[in-house]
Amino acid sequence: MAETSGKTACDTCASKGSDACDTCKDKVNLEQQEQKIRIAKNLSAIKYRIAIVSGKGGVGKSTVTAGIALSLAKKGYRVGVLDADISGPNMPHLLNVEGIRMGADVNGLIPIEAVHGIKVVSVESLISSSDSPVIWRGPMRSSIINQFLADVQWGELDFMLIDLPPGTGDEPLSIMQTIPLNGLVIVSTSSNLSVLDVSKIINMAKMLETKILGIVENMAYIECPDCGKRIYPFGEDTVKDLAGKYGIGSLGSIPMDVKNRGTDILTNEEPSLIIKNTNEIAENIVRSIEG
Ligand SMILES: Nc1ncnc2c1ncn2[C@@H]1O[C@H](COP(=O)(O)OP(=O)(O)OP(=O)(O)O)[C@@H](O)[C@H]1O
Ligand SMILES: [Mg+2]
Ligand SMILES: [Zn+2]
Repeated sequence: MAETSGKTACDTCASKGSDACDTCKDKVNLEQQEQKIRIAKNLSAIKYRIAIVSGKGGVGKSTVTAGIALSLAKKGYRVGVLDADISGPNMPHLLNVEGIRMGADVNGLIPIEAVHGIKVVSVESLISSSDSPVIWRGPMRSSIINQFLADVQWGELDFMLIDLPPGTGDEPLSIMQTIPLNGLVIVSTSSNLSVLDVSKIINMAKMLETKILGIVENMAYIECPDCGKRIYPFGEDTVKDLAGKYGIGSLGSIPMDVKNRGTDILTNEEPSLIIKNTNEIAENIVRSIEG
């Protein structure tokens, strides 16, 4: 095998990527080097990269990511959203570009454009039907993230928001290790942020050497449609108190959007409660990351 050179031989070589074949090993190393260079070049045009994390699933990470993206874009920032939830991609749906396929030209993949010029990149926009389950395994998931960073034409951005799979386990961690981050935004509901969650997220931030920008409390209260009175089913300052104990600042809170439950935050005629509240959260994020 070492005698053979050229693409075809290496691509079909059973030892590709292992130390058994020097030619293949060198080729794989070279490909990885080239990819690293492309990633570095792409990322150098993006001012801030922020990952949205949570201790648990289903707390509203994706919804809040979409809301923050919209709020930042409306303020005039150039925003890209990287849907890093490979097995449960939600961003195209939330940003109303579901079913649209990403194009490509000689310079790479072209992100989908949502309202206010938000660039969206998601596996949902690569596969043919959003109902087909994505069953890629671990290494393939990080390799797709690498490709999203290396081979997508992100262009110049002020913010790249990264929507992650739930939790603080191996998968979100390995994705975050692939992407050099400037900050983490924690999303939690009042009912389920635990001391354990907070310490896991703090450990994660330490491991990534990344600043925690603050915490967003989602589904914090219900506003009475008649008199506007706020009802806090889990207590008023539960999340803030716990975060404060660990020295994490609050970025703001979002009520329960009873009307549309957080889906269709864009397509509803009235601005959703989520958007109304992410405006202030977006301002706090800018302040926190620039301060
Ligand atoms: N403020 C809100 N008011 C009402 N419903 C909400 C709110 N935020 C999120 N939801 C709803 O809660 C569900 C979970 O939200 P979402 O998918 O954003 O959470 P997630 O943390 O990204 O979940 P996962 O961990 O599975 O990625 C969705 O049905 C969403 O529409
Ligand atoms: Mg999600
Ligand atoms: Zn009332």
